[in-house]
Amino acid sequence: MVEIPDYLIERSREARARFQGTDGGGSEASSTAVEPVAASEETVAAATETPQAEIEKIEPPKPVAPWVTAAKNRKKIPVWMAPVALFLPIWAFMIWGTLEEPTSNEEGPVAVGGEVYSQCAACHGVGGGGGVGYQLNEGEVLKTFPDVESHIAWVVNGSSTAGTPYGNPMREGGQRISQQQGVMPGFSSLGSLQILEVVLYERVTHGLQSPESLEAYIIWAESGDLPVWESGVSPQMIASSFSEFLETNVEAEEAYEETLEEAAG
Ligand code: HEC
Repeated sequence: MVEIPDYLIERSREARARFQGTDGGGSEASSTAVEPVAASEETVAAATETPQAEIEKIEPPKPVAPWVTAAKNRKKIPVWMAPVALFLPIWAFMIWGTLEEPTSNEEGPVAVGGEVYSQCAACHGVGGGGGVGYQLNEGEVLKTFPDVESHIAWVVNGSSTAGTPYGNPMREGGQRISQQQGVMPGFSSLGSLQILEVVLYERVTHGLQSPESLEAYIIWAESGDLPVWESGVSPQMIASSFSEFLETNVEAEEAYEETLEEAAG
């Protein structure tokens, strides 16, 4: 057997104690002698513990995106905001202005009437300039039918027997007289709403009547409360159902009275 020298046994005990974290007992006696070992013990401990602590406590700074830096350095209200903010109320006012005119927007009865008019364009021209049928534009249609009701009745019924006078008897250039029976077909099959829409369209775009003065009829079209107009309907029948409607609709009645006042004034 080989004799193990005492100092070796002592060292291994110290080493074991180091790993187990307990004092090996006799280490005190050799603590001064094994100074370098103790020192290295500390560095080992430092080397093994510090990285762990660092991972737990200190997070590496996240890279800051360039746009974040830009946003942080930017002035809070950009210079160009000033004129924009100034213009905002004006813009709001303009938008409000467009909301105030439901008749001239793209979905009102007048606009829809423009689609219905495609069925009339073959004879009266796309712009109402005339063809087989009379010129309607440049105010002509209003000369023949100064009132909405006889205009509607005409479109529902179409031409009657040849030689029958129609429209305003006082028309400049003389009253119209149907040239030929049925030369203009009646359009009762379109339905009351579409007929009213195309009449409103013709009065505004060809007759140059202001949508404001037709407001009550526009409300009538929008109400969905129209009577059925069949062939043979007279302007008087249409007028009486219109006044019945005015009695039930305050907004339309006010609009109508306004147009009467304007016409009188
Ligand atoms: C087939 C051709 C034809 C079509 C389609 C037609 N018209 Fe006419 N229209 C005429 C003729 C022709 C006259 C003249 C009436 C007559 O001589 O009897 C006329 C007259 C009129 C008048 C009176 C003009 C005036 O000053 O005397 C109006 C308003 C009118 N048409 C509206 C319409 C509308 C609205 C439509 C579509 C829904 C339409 N027409 C479709 C042929 C047509």
